[in-house]
Amino acid sequence: MKNEEDRSAWQLDQNSATAYEDYLVGRFFRRWAERLLTHADVAPGDRILDAGCGTGIVARTAASRLGRASKVVGVDINDGMLAEARRQDADQTVAWEKGALEELPFEDRTFDVALSQQVLQFVADRAKALAELHRVLAPGGRLVLASLRDLAFNPSYGVLATTLERHAGKAAGDMMRSPFSGPDADTLREELKAQGFSGVSVQHDILDVRFPSPSEYLRQEAASSPLAEPLAELHGDSLEALIADLEPALAAFTDDHGVTFPMETHFVAANR
Ligand SMILES: C[S@@+](CC[C@H](N)C(=O)[O-])C[C@H]1O[C@@H](n2cnc3c(N)ncnc32)[C@H](O)[C@@H]1O
Repeated sequence: MKNEEDRSAWQLDQNSATAYEDYLVGRFFRRWAERLLTHADVAPGDRILDAGCGTGIVARTAASRLGRASKVVGVDINDGMLAEARRQDADQTVAWEKGALEELPFEDRTFDVALSQQVLQFVADRAKALAELHRVLAPGGRLVLASLRDLAFNPSYGVLATTLERHAGKAAGDMMRSPFSGPDADTLREELKAQGFSGVSVQHDILDVRFPSPSEYLRQEAASSPLAEPLAELHGDSLEALIADLEPALAAFTDDHGVTFPMETHFVAANR
């Protein structure tokens, strides 16, 4: 995992998909992919879809657990994320496809298990996406998804968002809040039932996360997201002011080794 701190030249990475893989996958998405797959109880022979695969950590982990006996497909709308996914999958263990959840490029009843980690909160038409996931699952198939709980359960990100808003504008604050603005568990339950899913079960999952310092917490999150652009425009004094504001704001999450906090998500499982 990349891990350099240099506040005098606080360069954001050129490619946010590579930064996402280097930073956020290492800090939490990889461990969460493992837990999601265990929760989904995937088995060799299962045909698996990773919906909104990003750089592909869920699909790649599934393929390495299950071997060639399982067909694993990752689908995403973002070319940059798919390029990084292909780069990480040198042995071509996964089939990577471009497509939107709302219009999945697969035949009916193609998969036994559909997995989707931290995607639903970004999807424009959630009802359509859930209907599509239902359509591509085979009878007896199951959907297991992860969606972050709101900022009340992930308060250090609320601190990041508020500080960003103060220094880089409302859009930057809203962007940092967006991963935590997905549906709550009861809403998801109803939306899944409305699309024909049954046996919906919700589990809260809590992961311990650590970043080396408050400024690295901000830098790595920003570099891995659409925040890279607005923040790349902050220089010198503005950047120093942002970090000077952030450090005391994050004091409750900071120890002698950096910033640490519990991060909370919902795992939601449902039968087709
Ligand atoms: C936070 S990332 C999660 C990526 C991956 N699932 C992981 O666990 O690392 C969200 C991903 O959802 C994708 N995404 C957002 N809306 C989508 C849509 N409507 N259809 C397909 N992918 C979408 C984005 O391109 C991005 O790669």
